[in-house]
Amino acid sequence: MLSKMGFKSLIIEKAKRKKSRLILALDFTDKEPLNSAKDKINQLHNSLVGVKLNQHILLPLSIKDVSRIVRTAHDKDLLTIADLKLSDISSTNLVACKHIWNAGFDALILSPLPGYEDGVGPVISDAHDRGKGVIMLAMMSNKGAEEFFEVKLKNDKNLYELFLNKAVKWDIDGIIVGATNLKVLKKAREVIGKNLLIFSPGIGVQGGKAKDAINCGSDFIIVGRSIIKSSNPSYLVERMRQESWISS
Ligand code: XMP
Repeated sequence: MLSKMGFKSLIIEKAKRKKSRLILALDFTDKEPLNSAKDKINQLHNSLVGVKLNQHILLPLSIKDVSRIVRTAHDKDLLTIADLKLSDISSTNLVACKHIWNAGFDALILSPLPGYEDGVGPVISDAHDRGKGVIMLAMMSNKGAEEFFEVKLKNDKNLYELFLNKAVKWDIDGIIVGATNLKVLKKAREVIGKNLLIFSPGIGVQGGKAKDAINCGSDFIIVGRSIIKSSNPSYLVERMRQESWISS
């Protein structure tokens, strides 16, 4: 998506215009993820602000096919997020990023674990030089997330609080905080202030609710299986779009 606006401004503008805070995770498990992704985008785009493509859908596809999905999404006024949860040293991450940006994605998700220097730092600079967005994991939504993200540090803070502070310091665009722990979500909003966006997965199948997430500080909700496996996805996405927008 060619624009002089950065990712954060783009997604905020799109959300306001489309009155939606809903991002669809295109988490198909079938043998034809290219066609399934394109079909769902064509069917549901009006209620969405973006789509997220996870590594399990990207891996079996050629880069040409990935670009086709990204182009289909852009043609339907959607932003695209590559969810590889990148977590390596920058020399390899930057090569992965080159493929991601060449495929046309607007933003990527990375892990804070490599740290800034020779880790996420160069990825953030490179993305911002290209007008692309960086979203960082701060607190995952799955049940086991507390095993590490809530580990107490010497200063009595939890590990996720350290990630929140780093997110602010590193000047990224947004963070991932699961919708399954509303206490943490509220805390995240408190710590990061208004400048960073919060993206929340964990709605539906994992137990989180769109309304609660938005009320507790999420800017965008990411939903996969509930929509993908629904017998009436058009109805469901429109209901979720309304819920996500009205609650704000
Ligand atoms: P479901 O089917 O649970 O899928 O709606 C959620 C989608 O979001 C991703 N996911 C996460 N991604 N941090 C992330 O970066 C998380 O904590 C997290 N939890 C779920 C998941 O990969 C799926 O695409």
